[in-house]
Amino acid sequence: MNFFEPDKLKIGILGGGQLGRMILQAAANYNLFIKILDPDENAPCKHIANEFKKGKLTDFDTVYKFGKDCDVITIEIEHVNIEALKKLEKEGKKVFPQPHILEMIQDKGNQKMFYQRNDIPSPDFFLVENKSQINKFNDYFPFFQKLRTGGYDGKGVVKLSDPNDLSKAFDAPSVLERLVDFEKEISVIIARNESGETKCFPVVECAFSEEANLVEFLFSPAILKKTQEKEAYKIAELVAEKMQIVGLLAVEMFVTKDGKILVNEVAPRPHNSGHQTIEGNVTSQFEQHLRAILNLPLGATDITRPSVMVNMLGEKGFEGDAKYQGINEVLKWDGVHVHMYGKKTTKSFRKMGHVTVTANTLEEAVKYAKKVKDTLKVVA
Ligand SMILES: Nc1ncnc2c1ncn2[C@@H]1O[C@H](COP(=O)(O)OP(=O)(O)O)[C@@H](O)[C@H]1O
Ligand SMILES: [Mg+2]
Repeated sequence: MNFFEPDKLKIGILGGGQLGRMILQAAANYNLFIKILDPDENAPCKHIANEFKKGKLTDFDTVYKFGKDCDVITIEIEHVNIEALKKLEKEGKKVFPQPHILEMIQDKGNQKMFYQRNDIPSPDFFLVENKSQINKFNDYFPFFQKLRTGGYDGKGVVKLSDPNDLSKAFDAPSVLERLVDFEKEISVIIARNESGETKCFPVVECAFSEEANLVEFLFSPAILKKTQEKEAYKIAELVAEKMQIVGLLAVEMFVTKDGKILVNEVAPRPHNSGHQTIEGNVTSQFEQHLRAILNLPLGATDITRPSVMVNMLGEKGFEGDAKYQGINEVLKWDGVHVHMYGKKTTKSFRKMGHVTVTANTLEEAVKYAKKVKDTLKVVA
């Protein structure tokens, strides 16, 4: 069914952060009407949404009432009330990604078991209920311990090198994942529409900042062997097909030192590893998400120019009203695209914006992205 009638259609997005904001930018081209729900009255989407509602994303009544007035409901953050979405789905609303998929992904334990059940290559793991149960696995260190629910952007993940690290461990239901000795971290964003058409964005490489526990640089395209690239697409397709997801699915993967590809985790929405698609690819991930949830044909994903994305993080040690330094300088350089998320206040490592640098070669883009990183600062 193609129910694409922009004038009649109301799309609701749960979450009004930067991802929602970039979906809104893409939606304007299709003249779509978008309602946003977010608990923060100063959320990045506030001033550019067609309608903005302040409310708690985890509250049943708030989400249900919000969704009742929409035709299509989507998310830009996973931590939302699933029961309300299930009720809306039952009542005939289009809810993409589907609530049962969101529910499974919300819990990293269930996510890992899904990979295991479906023969999707991923790191070995154990499930524990609390800290004291970690002792049972003393022979298997080192681990990454991950809270089953509630973590994001590296919060809720801790590296446990040996049993002496237990003081750092979370005392909560969690996944104990064997440490992967990886060469790089990559991501494939795949889109799937309701008719079952799928399309992958070219693989990107994500470089993490140890200190901030966040993506620092993203390189598009990733430099990989052809066979590894094929394997990454195969895995992304497999995950999307097994889930039967409608919308975007970002598949974060490890390339191990012995050349294997393992799934780390997935996110059923636009993702930080696809921001460069706005300037660097034929179709952006945000437009693609809209096409997928509206059951429109998916757009071409080819890279138009090599690009590097740098997250603009709040400078360490600064907290308060955000001030931007160095913008005039970085805008002198060709191919520098600045995105400010419109967050009023900054704090250490808060995602305040991003910059995508496009160039004729990846080397050139890397060179300028590093200069941007050193020049552009968010302080208070
Ligand atoms: N099993 C592992 N082995 C090695 N590094 C890991 C492992 N699991 C996670 N990491 C590192 O920690 C980062 C954050 O973990 P992730 O599970 O993606 O949590 P988040 O939800 O915070 O993104 C990963 O991107 C990777 O750098
Ligand atoms: Mg992650």
